[in-house]
Amino acid sequence: MKSQNELGIPIPANKPLIVRTIKQVTKEQREYALKKTEYNVFSFPADLLFVDFLSDSGSGTMTDLQWASLFHGDESYGRNKGYYVLLDAIRDTFERGDNPKRAINLILTGETNVKKLMDELYLTSFEGGFVNGGIHQLIRPNAFIVPQGRCAEHLLFSTIAPILRKNYNSKEFFIPNNGHFDTTEANILANGLNPINLFSSNLLDEFPWDQMDNRNPFKGNMDIKRLEELIQDKGMDAIPLIYITITNNTAAGQPVEMKNIKEVRKIAKKYDIPLFFDACRFAENANFIKEFEEGYQDISIPNIVKEMFSYVDGFTISFKKDGLANIGGGFFFKDNGTFHRKFSVEEDIGIKLKEKQILTFGNDSYGGLSGRDIMALTTGLYEVVQETYLNERKFQVRNFARKLAKNNVPVILPAGGHAVYINIDKFFEGMDSSLDDFRGVGFTIELIRHYGIRAAELGPFAFEWDKKTPEQKKGVLNLVRFALPRNVYGTSHIDYAVAAITELFNNRDKIPKVKISRGAKLRLRHFQTGLQPIYE
Ligand code: F0G
Repeated sequence: MKSQNELGIPIPANKPLIVRTIKQVTKEQREYALKKTEYNVFSFPADLLFVDFLSDSGSGTMTDLQWASLFHGDESYGRNKGYYVLLDAIRDTFERGDNPKRAINLILTGETNVKKLMDELYLTSFEGGFVNGGIHQLIRPNAFIVPQGRCAEHLLFSTIAPILRKNYNSKEFFIPNNGHFDTTEANILANGLNPINLFSSNLLDEFPWDQMDNRNPFKGNMDIKRLEELIQDKGMDAIPLIYITITNNTAAGQPVEMKNIKEVRKIAKKYDIPLFFDACRFAENANFIKEFEEGYQDISIPNIVKEMFSYVDGFTISFKKDGLANIGGGFFFKDNGTFHRKFSVEEDIGIKLKEKQILTFGNDSYGGLSGRDIMALTTGLYEVVQETYLNERKFQVRNFARKLAKNNVPVILPAGGHAVYINIDKFFEGMDSSLDDFRGVGFTIELIRHYGIRAAELGPFAFEWDKKTPEQKKGVLNLVRFALPRNVYGTSHIDYAVAAITELFNNRDKIPKVKISRGAKLRLRHFQTGLQPIYE
C-alpha cells in the first residue's frame, strides 16, 4: 500500500474555520457596475465578485496564530515590542536556516523575566548581517520597515539616484532584472533611471502539462549572457545595482534556480556591483528549488532560503506576498557589504535612508505599520516556510494550470508559484488582432461581465506598450494573470474559473477590443485610466 507521501496529492495543510458568504450578483448588475467604473477592473467593487484572482498581495487568509499575535500588538510610538521580534525574525528567516531563535515566543508566551527579555530581545547587540542590532542599528542602520514593497523601492531608488548623478561617471543608469514588477519599474523610471528586463530565453518554450510534477526548466532565471553584454556595453559605472526577482512575477511567476543566483552573483562580484533580491515570493521560490533543482531535495526550506540570501547584498520585500501577511514591506542590506561601501559616499547610506524613512513613512521602529500588523507579519514569516503549506499551495496552482491546459487554453507551463498565466498572443492566435487592441483587457472585462471572476492583464496595457521604445517593447510580454490568494479558494472556485475561462476561450471571437477612453498618457495607468470595450 502507498504511504501518505506517495499518493501524489499533498497532505492537507490546514482547515478553514471561518467563511464569508459570496453575494449572488447578476450579470446585469455586473454590467451596470462595469459601466459605472469605466471598465477598469481595478476599480470594480470586490464585494460584487464571485472569485477574485486580481492579486495574491495582502489578500490571503490569516492563520489562528496570526490572529492571536494581533493581540500582542504594541502601538507605542518608539520601539514597540514588535520591532524587536520582527528584526529577529528577519535574521531567523534569512540568515539562520534551521537554527532560528524564535524570539517572538518570549512575547507570545508572556515572558516576565526582565533580565531574559533585556538580554535576549531588547538590548542585544548585533552586526555583520542584514539586520544590525542594538547600538549598531543606531550607528549603521541597515533595516527599514515600510508599509509595502513599493515603499521600499521608493526609499531605495529615490535615495540612490542623486548619489549616482553626483558621484558616478555615467550619464545614464540601468537597473537590470530578470523581470521588474510594475511598481519597481515605475519607481526606477520616476527617479530618472532605466529598468531593463533580462528574461530567460526559454520563457515561452512549450512545456507538456503532464510533466509538471517531474521537472522544471526554471524559466524565471536571468539571462546571464545578456547581463554581461549589458555591463560591457554600458560600462560598470552605468549599472549601479543588479536585481533578481524571486519568483519572477512579471515572467509568469516562474522560479529562479540557485545555480542562476550563483552565476549572477559571480558576475556582480566581478564588476563590483551590488546584487539585490526583490524577495517578494522567496518561500515559494525556495520550494521549487527543493523540488526540482539537483542536490536540494534533502535540504530544508529554511536552509535553502539561507543559502539564497547568502549570495545577495540586500533585498527589498513586500510582506504581502507569499501569503505571509496583509500588509508590510522592508528594505535590508548587508552591514559593511558592497552596497554600503559603494553608496556611503558623502555619509553613511543607512543614515540617509533612515532620514527618508522617517520623513515619509514613520520612525524606524514601526515604518508606517501598526504594532498589530508587525506582530501578524512576524508570525507569518515562520509559517510561510512550512513545507506542507507550500506544497499544498503549489499543487493548487499547478492543478489550476493543468485543468486549463487539458482544455487547450494556452497557459504558460509549467505553472509558477502563485498564479496561472494565460499567453494572450496564443489565446487570440489566428485572429486579426494586434497588441494595440488590448484584447487581454477585453478578456478580463468579459470574465467579470459573464462570470464574476476578476483577473489582471499584465501585458501591453499594464506595461504601457504604446509608450515604449522599440528596444523597451522587447521586454513586454502579453499575459493575463490569475493570482491565488493564500488559503482563500478551494477546488470549487478553481473548477468554476476553469469552466468560465474555457467557455470564453471557445468563444474568443466574441471578446472585444478595448480602447482607452480616458488618461492614456497617465503613468501606472492600469490603476487609473477609463476604458471602453468595442463590441462588434
Ligand atoms: N515586487 C514584486 C515582484 C511584486 O509582485 C510586487 C507586488 C511588488 C514588488 C510591490 O509590492 O504591492 O507590497 O508594494 N505585486 C502585487 C501583485 C501587487 O499583484 O503581483 P507591494
